[in-house]
Amino acid sequence: MGQRITRSRIVDPEGPDPVAIGEAARILIGGGLVAFPTETVYGLGARADDPTAVRWIFEAKGRPTGNPLIVHVDTVALARRCVASWSDQAEALADRFWPGPLTLILPRTGLIADAVTAGGPTVGVRIPASRIALELIAATGHPVAAPSANRSTRISPTRAEHVFKDLDGRVDLILDGGPCSVGLESTVLDLSAARPRILRPGSISAADLATIMGVPPELASIDPTPGAIAPSPGLAAVHYAPRHRAIRVESDALTRVDWPERAVLIIIGGADPAAIPAHVARFDLGDPGQAARGLYAALHAADEREPDLIVVATPPDGPEWAAILDRVRRATTPA
Ligand code: TXA
Ligand code: MG
Repeated sequence: MGQRITRSRIVDPEGPDPVAIGEAARILIGGGLVAFPTETVYGLGARADDPTAVRWIFEAKGRPTGNPLIVHVDTVALARRCVASWSDQAEALADRFWPGPLTLILPRTGLIADAVTAGGPTVGVRIPASRIALELIAATGHPVAAPSANRSTRISPTRAEHVFKDLDGRVDLILDGGPCSVGLESTVLDLSAARPRILRPGSISAADLATIMGVPPELASIDPTPGAIAPSPGLAAVHYAPRHRAIRVESDALTRVDWPERAVLIIIGGADPAAIPAHVARFDLGDPGQAARGLYAALHAADEREPDLIVVATPPDGPEWAAILDRVRRATTPA
């Protein structure tokens, strides 16, 4: 593992300093690693057309090489150079949802390094909705492979501090653009099979996609069996867990929790926090948008307290909570 000196630069998300963007782009062009904010989570970027640079991503994250990376582009034209067939459906979806938190899985071309796709025949592409990300990709002039900028199996970063905590010494530069505006990873939609299928739910819902596609996409289900083969590696049941014991509890069962001395409660969707002992540290996340933006930061903050137990009160049922519930399920075990 090449030890790197990690520098961090604060960048205005509304008007990024071209000098900082230029510096970051030169690092990427030269085969280095740059962490940058997208609207979803921070990404750990490298040139997607440079096999050596891409290998460093896997090294830095400790990511299994069988788990493919998402490629970030700044234009549909560049997306089309990454994929072998661009359907009317892809065009319509890109037109409606890009730039934005939607990743499309399509047959790949040779432009993309094999390691990006884990040797597979498809590639995931998206145009992120973040000026920093867009200007960085434009200045780089190459597609940028970027998984979430966390160590493998840890919680995704929604702030530069989260990236620094996990990847100090493993990335050349962190562009600090403040907190991410969406906060959960993109919806991953597989368009490479006969029927469109959501491999990972996100803030763009099945219903949103159906308005453009005419038919609702299938939803890949998470197989909770340990070691089960997932349709997409990111669908493995526990994937983004805190370091400390974390369980999920239905809101109405919170009174039955046996709270240890050092405990954290994360309440999602406004459960009534009455009857929770005063010594329990609490994070309250209200509506779905706020919960999406705040979930990972709350999990990071909970972990930092070195608790004996983290309890997440599960969100209500309903499609607007689907992506949040999915991430809560991966980060916790049932009580
Ligand atoms: O919002 C996001 O998508 C963030 C930001 C940085 O853009 N990126 C992200 O990357 O979440 P990562 O690597 O943490 O998650 C990528 C997910 C994984 O579940 C991976 O298995 C899946 O996308 N994926 C990528 N390429 C794929 C492919 N060709 N086929 C199936 N699944 C793929
Ligand atoms: Mg990830």
